[in-house]
Amino acid sequence: LSTMSDNAGVTKSLLLATSMAVVGSTFQFGYNTGVINAPQKTIEQFFNLTYITRYGYPIATSTLNLLWGFTVAVTAVGGMIGSLCAGFAADRYGLKKPMLYNNFTAILAALLMGFSKLAGSFEMLIIGRFIIGINSGINMGIAPMYLTEIAPVKYRGVFGTLGQLGVVTSMLLSQVLGLRWLLGTSTLWPLLLALTGVFAVYQLAVIPFCPESPRFLLVKMNKEDEAREALQWLRGSHYNSKEEMNQMSSEHEAGKDEQKTTIKELFTVSHLRQPLIIAIVMQLSQQLSGINAVFYYSTQLFLAAGIPQEGLTTVGVGIVNVIMTIVSLSLIEHAGRRILHLIGLGGMCVCSILLEISLFLIGCVGNAPFALKSSPVKTAVCVNVLVISWLTLVPILLFVAFFQTGPGSIPWFITAELFNQSARPAAVSIAGLVNWLGNFTIGLAYPSINAEIGGYTFIIFAVLLAIFWIFTYFRVPETKGKNINEITALF
Ligand code: GLC
Repeated sequence: LSTMSDNAGVTKSLLLATSMAVVGSTFQFGYNTGVINAPQKTIEQFFNLTYITRYGYPIATSTLNLLWGFTVAVTAVGGMIGSLCAGFAADRYGLKKPMLYNNFTAILAALLMGFSKLAGSFEMLIIGRFIIGINSGINMGIAPMYLTEIAPVKYRGVFGTLGQLGVVTSMLLSQVLGLRWLLGTSTLWPLLLALTGVFAVYQLAVIPFCPESPRFLLVKMNKEDEAREALQWLRGSHYNSKEEMNQMSSEHEAGKDEQKTTIKELFTVSHLRQPLIIAIVMQLSQQLSGINAVFYYSTQLFLAAGIPQEGLTTVGVGIVNVIMTIVSLSLIEHAGRRILHLIGLGGMCVCSILLEISLFLIGCVGNAPFALKSSPVKTAVCVNVLVISWLTLVPILLFVAFFQTGPGSIPWFITAELFNQSARPAAVSIAGLVNWLGNFTIGLAYPSINAEIGGYTFIIFAVLLAIFWIFTYFRVPETKGKNINEITALF
């Protein structure tokens, strides 16, 4: 493909706009996903103390578990609402304004969470988690769209993956800050949660310098001059924007008679339904792969496997996460989306089976609910309990590594690649909603399902991963290097 954008380079302005979207938006999602894992016990104590102060007796364990589960999962409920708002807002106001105003929800959430302890109100914490969920839902709809729309075609995959790099970096940041000897203490956890406001402040400071997506300006708003100006700012003053503008104009011409695509049309019109199914299954393959069973419950998983220093081990997983996302970033424009997604899903499937085998072997150290109930090799291998415990870590780390090869990042940006301007916002909303639903389901259901079926949950994930692999192999087209007209022509 020797299209115009091939000579479009990466400029400082482009990087500034990118950092604005990555730090200001995707960090919110990653940070708040990771932050709740480490300080669980201390925050639960706060719940209990608040309860005692109010009612004179401690909270029942079952109520506490429920309340904690709710505190974690309520963010995903907010996420679903947020992702629905994202499409609507993007269609009406573009990408810049929603990002800008969304910061106020982050600041509100940070204040609620940060002052919940002082106010003696766990309700404030829960409402804060709900609001930051709405914020993340909006952000994870808008930011990947913005990143793919401002990127030159040949780097679109890299910029899309940068969104996921933001997610994993901020997740690692929250895991490190949440360690017991940093902010994961009974006095400092409110600060740990409130720090999410810092990303909003960064975005508020930088966003005035950044342009609206040129594509939105031209294709949607018909503002040719402003679009050219935005593109020139992103690509540098020496860049000849003519061809890129022409390409966007042709999309504009093609879509002129098309009204805004409604959600209903996405499901009923064949050339829209096909990419929609792909976008939905890609999101399902990400969430139902079981990745968040690891991220939400890794600390418990390591404890059950008898691995010491579970807090640090969780940080270790976070580091693998970041490294592998960088690897994926460097491969995405060479290998393409399809192949990386296939390698990721296939590798995760094998690792799930290996994980079950090693959990089976450590039946001897097992304490429910994570370890398997019995093991025939129990007595034979008990001597080497610790060795086998550490062996469990290998498939977990590889599982995470394969996830970041493709399934971690691609589903988030491929929806924006598959649809033209008129259908993109609605499609991104639906795909986001599916992602959050999957996230919510795993977060809530994993512990009970796992306990119920005696620790074999990763076998279910392995089966699902195999199904998603087959779907990807037969149905997902390669979008690497193709412009939007070429991609929509595939359906
Ligand atoms: C992706 C997923 C998210 C997961 C994260 C882990 O961003 O959407 O649910 O926690 O990857 O790296």
